[in-house]
Amino acid sequence: MQNEILEILKTADGYVSGQQLSDRLGVSRTAVWKAINLLRDKGYTISSSTNKGYILLDAQSVISKDDIAKHLTTKEFGKSIIILDTVDSTNTYAKACGLEGASSGTVVIAREQTNGKGRLGRAWQSQKDSGIWMSLLIRPQLSPMEVSSITPLTGLAVCKTLNRLFDLDCKIKWPNDVIAGNKKICGTLTEMTAEFDAVEHIIIGIGINCDNESFPEEISKKATSVFIETGKKPNKSKLTADILNDLEKELLCCDYKLNTFNVKEYRHLCATLGKEISFTRGNRYISAVAVDVNPQGELVAMLSDGTTCTVNSGEVTVQGIY
Ligand code: BTN
Repeated sequence: MQNEILEILKTADGYVSGQQLSDRLGVSRTAVWKAINLLRDKGYTISSSTNKGYILLDAQSVISKDDIAKHLTTKEFGKSIIILDTVDSTNTYAKACGLEGASSGTVVIAREQTNGKGRLGRAWQSQKDSGIWMSLLIRPQLSPMEVSSITPLTGLAVCKTLNRLFDLDCKIKWPNDVIAGNKKICGTLTEMTAEFDAVEHIIIGIGINCDNESFPEEISKKATSVFIETGKKPNKSKLTADILNDLEKELLCCDYKLNTFNVKEYRHLCATLGKEISFTRGNRYISAVAVDVNPQGELVAMLSDGTTCTVNSGEVTVQGIY
């Protein structure tokens, strides 16, 4: 009944009275009132007025399976969706689903993460309903050596989606942060479970800051959101579907591999190129200029003596970007 009430409120032009809802659904007004409260618990802002009835204020702020399905054009990604109210980390949850045999393309989404994971053991802040916190489980037929392209391709797909939908000029901070201006709007964390020679499953975790009007002091210089960049809070269900649509195209059309075409696109959107960078190698601190992303997705750095080396993991600090 909740879904039916939601549909009526979404399509209504203004308030709908409790009596109208109970007549249309053939249930008591108490049952309507209970269903309304359950929808409120799920995050929908439904305002009520004694004489007028109920009105739905921000349908788009809540991610729902039905709304995602309306916009999904994929063959595989998102065909099974699990939406949770709260979880430690959607990546951890999706991994457990993977171990229990969940099918490739399963997506886990949470309204809030209490222990969201970032790269390099960092925490990822994931306040309730402020963004999209999702993890996609895939089972590609690849060896563990072949999966490294998935990280840059994910960054590429999300960057292109945000630019297209919101007319933004997002770039990629190598390897896979998506930035708007010089602040992070989306982070991705890819984790693999594998046997010696075969991938069991891969979890692609994506966190997109959507509705945040500001950030806590400690990250305010580093983080931004769709709202801060555009002045609008996005429809999160549609954005989720668009990300899955684009990610499936990006990953499947090249069989999960970097190729001449997508590396060119990646370079074009990579904010790290041409910038001064620093990184550590062993116990040495190295300053260099990022000059290329090679066909393997590694960052090519030019040192002060004119020689080049590749950087393929760990933290690279880029001058001018958070
Ligand atoms: C980073 O930039 O350091 C990576 C951030 C990845 C965050 C997402 S939110 C959904 C998924 N679940 C997690 O615990 N992390 C990823």
